[in-house]
Amino acid sequence: MRREIPEFFSNLMSLVVLFLANNSLSGAIPYWLFNLPALSVLDLSMNNFEGVIPPLIQMKSSLFPSIVNLARNKIEGPIPTQLENVNVIDLSLNNFVGSIPAQMGEIPAIRSISLSKNKIHGPIPESFFQSINVLQVLDLSNNSLSCTVPRSLGNCKSLIYLNLGQNKLTGSVPEELERVTSLRYLDLNGNEFEGSFPTVIEKFQELEILNLAGNRFKGRIPKFIGDLYHLRILVLASNSFNESIPEGTTILGYYYSLKFTGAHSEIVTKGQTRFHLSVYSYNTGFDVSSNALSSKITEKIGLLNGIPLLNLSHNSLTGLIPQTMGEMISLESLDLSYNQLTCEIPVTLTLLNFLTYLNLSYNNLSGRIPTNPQFDTLYQDGTVDVGKKILVRYS
Ligand SMILES: *[C@@H]1O[C@H](CO)[C@@H](O)[C@H](O)[C@H]1NC(C)=O
Ligand SMILES: *[C@@H]1O[C@H](CO)[C@@H](O)[C@H](O)[C@H]1NC(C)=O
Ligand SMILES: *[C@@H]1O[C@H](CO)[C@@H](O)[C@H](O)[C@H]1NC(C)=O
Ligand SMILES: *[C@@H]1O[C@H](CO)[C@@H](O)[C@H](O)[C@H]1NC(C)=O
Ligand SMILES: *[C@@H]1O[C@H](CO)[C@@H](O)[C@H](O)[C@H]1NC(C)=O
Repeated sequence: MRREIPEFFSNLMSLVVLFLANNSLSGAIPYWLFNLPALSVLDLSMNNFEGVIPPLIQMKSSLFPSIVNLARNKIEGPIPTQLENVNVIDLSLNNFVGSIPAQMGEIPAIRSISLSKNKIHGPIPESFFQSINVLQVLDLSNNSLSCTVPRSLGNCKSLIYLNLGQNKLTGSVPEELERVTSLRYLDLNGNEFEGSFPTVIEKFQELEILNLAGNRFKGRIPKFIGDLYHLRILVLASNSFNESIPEGTTILGYYYSLKFTGAHSEIVTKGQTRFHLSVYSYNTGFDVSSNALSSKITEKIGLLNGIPLLNLSHNSLTGLIPQTMGEMISLESLDLSYNQLTCEIPVTLTLLNFLTYLNLSYNNLSGRIPTNPQFDTLYQDGTVDVGKKILVRYS
């Protein structure tokens, strides 16, 4: 049996908030719903709605910011071109096709746009955000967007969250983005960006999460990354970064024991309104795997005592595993595989009480595996891979 939106709702002339999320509703969304005279918040997310929606969506202003949330349905067809009085729009996880309408960037009061995980292609319109605007959240991830990032994105001076990950974007990160100094989340993973490490990132002093993985960036990782005091998650995997892990006055901003605790980041606008954004469903830390790093691992790595995950695998790191790694007391997963590390496994690694995954294989380590009760537990309940070549375990 189909559960649809009842017809009599079209008579609810004073309805301000309609919240029908997660109700197994299906069928097409009736067009009259988008024109109810008092409606300001429409949340139909997490249902099975299908079909197309009208090109014009009109919300009414009220005490609340006006919200249109149609995420997680099966809606198809083009993205609406005209949005009147919409502050927040979430169309993610649907089957929208076509390109991003340029008009979307011209809505003066829009604060959040999420089009993630649809079938949208073409460029991010050049005319997007020509003028001063209040956009805080822009999520265009998991589509097939191509071409370069328009310089006009630099006009979004209130932007906090920018996710362009998993598209086919090319070129370099535009310099104009340096005006967006409020940015806290930047995800460009899985595109075709190239050039050296984007220097504009130095301007993002509020940055907490940075993901540049799976692009064509190359050259050195700059020292300023160590001065981004709020940075908690740094994913640079699968690029061509070379030379060393940067060592500045601080390393990676991790002087203190920062721990990323949740899967959500909360964005507060205008006092009371909150949107929750799913950020990462796993704890992560520093991932610079699959690059071309070729130096020794710095002794200062031990200062990263708040991160649960360190992945330096698939590089050409040389020298010893630093004793100081034993000070990375929050580590749960340590992957140093596929490097050219030599000599013995430092006994200090046995101090890592939370470690459940350790991979040291495909190196040139020698000597014996340290023994102590903690390591024995790791062997029984976790994963240890030290490679087969030289090491023999004595007990
Ligand atoms: C986007 O793609 C990435 C990588 O393929 C995937 O991990 C992530 O879950 C996707 N996001 C959504 C919302 O499906
Ligand atoms: C690192 O990469 C840059 C850019 O590709 C290159 O100019 C430089 O020579 C490389 N450094 C080393 C040590 O290979
Ligand atoms: C570390 O990175 C490599 C390559 O990017 C990946 O294959 C491996 O699964 C990662 N290790 C862990 C523990 O996630
Ligand atoms: C350890 O790393 C190597 C190389 O990255 C990989 O082939 C192997 O499967 C990993 N071992 C475990 C137990 O994850
Ligand atoms: C591995 O270590 C051995 C003994 O220390 C050394 O003779 C050999 O050259 C090393 N191999 C590589 C590929 O570094």
